[in-house]
Amino acid sequence: MPHKIGIVGTGGVGGIHAAILAKDPRVRLQSFFDVEPTRAQAMASKFGGRAAQSPEDLFKDCDAVFVCTPNTTHEEVAMRVLEAGKHVFCEKPFALNLESAARLRDRTVRTGLVYQVGHNRRFAPVYKTLKAAMDAGELRPLSVHAKMNRGELVNPPWVWNARLTGGFLYETPVHMFDLMTFFFGKVEWVQVAARAHEHGELDDFSILINFQSGLQATMKTYAHASWHFPFERFEVYGIHSTYETFEMERLSFTNGLESRTTTYDFSLASMHEKWGYVEEDRLFVDALDGKSGVPVSAEDGFQVVELIEACYQSAREGIRVHLDAPVRKF
Ligand SMILES: NC(=O)c1ccc[n+]([C@@H]2O[C@H](COP(=O)([O-])OP(=O)(O)OC[C@H]3O[C@@H](n4cnc5c(N)ncnc54)[C@H](O)[C@@H]3O)[C@@H](O)[C@H]2O)c1
Repeated sequence: MPHKIGIVGTGGVGGIHAAILAKDPRVRLQSFFDVEPTRAQAMASKFGGRAAQSPEDLFKDCDAVFVCTPNTTHEEVAMRVLEAGKHVFCEKPFALNLESAARLRDRTVRTGLVYQVGHNRRFAPVYKTLKAAMDAGELRPLSVHAKMNRGELVNPPWVWNARLTGGFLYETPVHMFDLMTFFFGKVEWVQVAARAHEHGELDDFSILINFQSGLQATMKTYAHASWHFPFERFEVYGIHSTYETFEMERLSFTNGLESRTTTYDFSLASMHEKWGYVEEDRLFVDALDGKSGVPVSAEDGFQVVELIEACYQSAREGIRVHLDAPVRKF
């Protein structure tokens, strides 16, 4: 029997997941709910299934639910899904503060249900190839620099508003924090300087991350850099070796002082594959099948929130923040 999946929030990213899941023979797209009913109806017309009248109406005939609503609603909607006893895939960010993240993580553990966080970058071929080089010992990272820029905080029109996004770091930069912990393990402390340029919201961050392994990473993330390509890049350095990503299009590396440079180019793959969405959805269905564990767990989501909260505390207080210390709230 196929897994009956519903989608709550049928906007941009809800449409991406629907298009991917519609191609998986293990899945039936059962129902859609959106506070704008015409959007849910449009998706039901396109992919089959029905437009539900409420989240609870949707839960009635689903085994698992994709939560693709705006950031501020994730905890509330995901909690309702868990209470209904259904498995959850919830878009990033996992939560917008530590209390919320702890509540969701603990509830997930108590229910024993699958809860996957939408940190798709882990499954982008560029980042999978970089991780594989580290796992194979071909690259032994000694130093890291990363950047994640936006062109503006204008489109969509609410994106500058921290009350709606949770703060700039919870927007796209959240992916880089997830990759940092995925690649390099647990963080010991962070030291951050930040400024606000346009909207009174901190939008220009210089971040130093010290991992428990002793590795140090710097990260720059800036909200109104122009859309100059690439917005996103990892540079990872070993002894006489450099690995460098170029958006999710290419990975180049040079191992040794007189070695040639090798480039993997994924630019011809579809955007859904290049950005990791296809694989994250496949792995979610694998987890529903019991074939494998959850690839990005509630605990992973919690750790990213913990790291971001530590960055905000460091920026606001001008201090080094250790992650095992309690993070103060604002
Ligand atoms: N992983 C990624 O690469 C990625 C990419 C884009 C967006 N996202 C995340 O996905 C989420 C949605 O982003 P989007 O770009 O699709 O936004 P969007 O505005 O295109 O879509 C959101 C939809 O949710 C609906 N909605 C709002 N509140 C609702 C509620 N309480 N119940 C049901 N429906 C509700 C809106 O009407 C809208 O149709 C955000 O949290 C965003 O951070 C992740």
